[in-house]
Amino acid sequence: MQQGGPFKIVHVPKRALALAPEEVLIRQRVIAFNLLDVKQRDHGIGISHWPRVLGVEGAGVVEAVGASVRDFQPGDEVAGWQGSGAHEIVWGGAFQERVAVATHFLTKRPKNISLEEAASLPVGFVTAVCTIVDSLKIPLRFLPEAISTDGQVPSSVLVLGGSSATGAAAIQLLRRAYPSLPILATSSVKHKARLMDLGATHVVDYKSSSTVVADITAASPGAAGVDVIIDCVSAGASQTDICDVLDPAGSRRYAAVLTGVPVPVPEGVSHIVAGAYSVFEMKGGKEIIPSLARLVEEGVYKVPLPVRVVGHGLEELPDVLDAVKTVSGEKVVLTL
Ligand SMILES: NC(=O)c1ccc[n+]([C@@H]2O[C@H](COP(=O)([O-])OP(=O)(O)OC[C@H]3O[C@@H](n4cnc5c(N)ncnc54)[C@H](OP(=O)(O)O)[C@@H]3O)[C@@H](O)[C@H]2O)c1
Repeated sequence: MQQGGPFKIVHVPKRALALAPEEVLIRQRVIAFNLLDVKQRDHGIGISHWPRVLGVEGAGVVEAVGASVRDFQPGDEVAGWQGSGAHEIVWGGAFQERVAVATHFLTKRPKNISLEEAASLPVGFVTAVCTIVDSLKIPLRFLPEAISTDGQVPSSVLVLGGSSATGAAAIQLLRRAYPSLPILATSSVKHKARLMDLGATHVVDYKSSSTVVADITAASPGAAGVDVIIDCVSAGASQTDICDVLDPAGSRRYAAVLTGVPVPVPEGVSHIVAGAYSVFEMKGGKEIIPSLARLVEEGVYKVPLPVRVVGHGLEELPDVLDAVKTVSGEKVVLTL
């Protein structure tokens, strides 16, 4: 497609999909939508040239494997981070019937969840892991050993956007690693029970913006404020006094997942840029997504958000993609 659309279905001969040695060819069965899809369609975020195949997340069945692939074989059901465009790194494109993806972006479908649920996992999980381990240097010791860091464990964490895919993943990862860590989160009231189930200790309604800072501070340990903020949704762009919740005696760190919306952070607060692209530089980055199958099967990590099928077939994709703009505490997917 070109920037702004419309989407165009193009038939490509199968032989044009030559596989690199580390890639597998996936017959796509599920496309999971992300807000990035709409931002790329409408504003060309991270797209250096058009036409492009969009789509960053999905799941399907392996049809063929590249010459060096050992861990996957035809017939395996897999889910993955299937495309990009940012940082001049381009691969795949989930909005296709067949997509070639390198194995380090893939996990086998965990046996205890559906393919739709599996499709909903990789991007939120990898973004949350990169933010916690690489950006904030907080160890998550249940992950494969290579994904290690020797940073300090915070005394408390506030997750802004707890009901986002990234936020819900971050809450449960932190809870799994630190059973007694105070984890505060913001979301709509209706998601409170789910976020508490994932491991949040307090959930504050971000829509009561006049009292949100006071509410978070009151819920923080000793009402002293929180040590670290993880902003998954650029909440600080609209709630500009949010850093007032940071404990003056804490580490005063604000990790903001890159969304394209800048977040102003006051002097005296460390602004830490976060995002999934750390996988390319961080130690063990390429083991993050492949680890999902084991973590989910062992019950260490659960599907954080409910999954809703909004359409079927590539023909329906242009009409249903906008559903991601109003997503609230769920992942929306299209089946093929
Ligand atoms: N840089 C990267 O590598 C990277 C990777 C992944 C995602 N992203 C970006 O990160 C953002 C989040 O992505 P996602 O897929 O995790 O999000 P998502 O699931 O699409 O987020 C939707 C949720 O955000 C919540 N929300 C919106 N504004 C909020 C606010 N001011 N305060 C608290 N919650 C708020 C909504 O909460 P309620 O329904 O409770 O109201 C809704 O549940 C997107 O902009 C995405 O493009 C960047």
